[in-house]
Amino acid sequence: MSRKSIKKIVDKETKKEFKPKRSDKYSRLRGMKDILFDEYKYWDLVVKKATDLSTIYGFNHIDTPILEKLDLFERSTGKETDIVSKEMYAFIDKSGDRVALRPEATPGLVRAYIEHGMFNLPQPVKMFWLGPLFRHEKPQSGRLRQFFQYDLEMFGDSSPVADVQLILIAYNFFSELQIDAQIQINSIGCKECRAEYSKKLVEYYKERGKRAKLCVDCKKRFTKNPMRLLDCKEPVCQQIREDAPQIVDSLCDSCREHFIKVLEYLDELDIPYNLNPFLVRGLDYYNRTVFEVFAVNDEESETDKRQSALGGGGRYDELVELMGGRPTPACGFGIGIERVINKIKEKNIPIKEDRDNYIFIAQLGEQGKRKAFMLFEELRKAGFKVRQSFTKDSLKVQLEEADRIVAKYTLILGQKELLDGTIILRDMESGTQEVVDYKKIIFELNKRIEGNKN
Ligand code: HAM
Repeated sequence: MSRKSIKKIVDKETKKEFKPKRSDKYSRLRGMKDILFDEYKYWDLVVKKATDLSTIYGFNHIDTPILEKLDLFERSTGKETDIVSKEMYAFIDKSGDRVALRPEATPGLVRAYIEHGMFNLPQPVKMFWLGPLFRHEKPQSGRLRQFFQYDLEMFGDSSPVADVQLILIAYNFFSELQIDAQIQINSIGCKECRAEYSKKLVEYYKERGKRAKLCVDCKKRFTKNPMRLLDCKEPVCQQIREDAPQIVDSLCDSCREHFIKVLEYLDELDIPYNLNPFLVRGLDYYNRTVFEVFAVNDEESETDKRQSALGGGGRYDELVELMGGRPTPACGFGIGIERVINKIKEKNIPIKEDRDNYIFIAQLGEQGKRKAFMLFEELRKAGFKVRQSFTKDSLKVQLEEADRIVAKYTLILGQKELLDGTIILRDMESGTQEVVDYKKIIFELNKRIEGNKN
């Protein structure tokens, strides 16, 4: 394609025209990220923490398809939510089915619970899920169109202890990654509590022309779902809501008791939290406990904060039945992995790199290379962390590579060692070298590494 044939493109959001450079032609989509080599140490750390904690607390790993029927999200997340009405990657596939790239994990996990008859398993069923999600939002730092979440869901347990266990795991996850997390929590009660509360809210917004000042979206919310008024990110709507009635004052006895128990447990466990009477969460399925997690000391405006929650979740006791399953109480949370990694980087939290005991195998000459190949396999099977660059012939280049990966020892196999049945063992820190019997190399390495191989 010649330069002349590159057409002007109009950015739908900014309405600006631009001519893509040649190099833009195959660049990645907006809001989508490549995870490059250096980034992986953060992913490894965060994924390991998520996996370890989930296993310890008895959650089982599960995965679901990235593509699901569009109806699944319309029915569960809710047709009127921003996620479904504005942000979904939805399309009709080649068979004419309406499908969508999953914008959140919970609906797929509820579907899997019902579809695989998991109500027949001992309850609660505890799921651990980690994967990519897609939301066509306006990209900015920490807000992507493809992002990853760590999700836990617990089905079949209605007790406040279940809510608390999830909040505890989320809290442990952050504090063990050295992120000071703060939990914001609220209860949005059951249908009955919300019916009563919605009436009070409507009365409040009708007073003294408040309704007229609301943003366009909130004017619609006012008739469709007044509780969403509390969730609006527009500063004017946030100001109007300041004196709005609080849902905790409209909770029925049973919802109030549930919420009090959750808070009592959190107090006992010393988990810091803030009651946030306006936290309603932007998804349709929640009832009773809802919570979000933020990093402490974030000097951001309320609006920025809402957009940079590290995680969020809550109870959704009616969703399984709504989706065609047996009545099953449930609760869960989702944590945004990229946002957690950003926080780790922003705060310069040191990452312990596990490089201590690398053993580099260097070789000289064709015969040396062959034997080094075998030695590599032997050491690997014996549990050592072996490294090599067998495609290189120069000893200097190989030693440079050993330095680069901060190897503890380098084993050198040359012509002379092959003839003598020996191998050179070089301590990379001190630079000292000794010649050892080839047959005793595993013994010698074990002696030095003292069982700390992996
Ligand atoms: P959510 O609040 O929509 O909840 O998302 C949870 C977390 O995912 C957010 O707090 C944030 O860290 C991350 N996140 C959301 N959108 C983006 C984005 N565009 N870019 C980067 N990170 C993002 C849910 O998804 C619920 N399904 C959570 C849940 C599970 N509730 C019960 N079980």
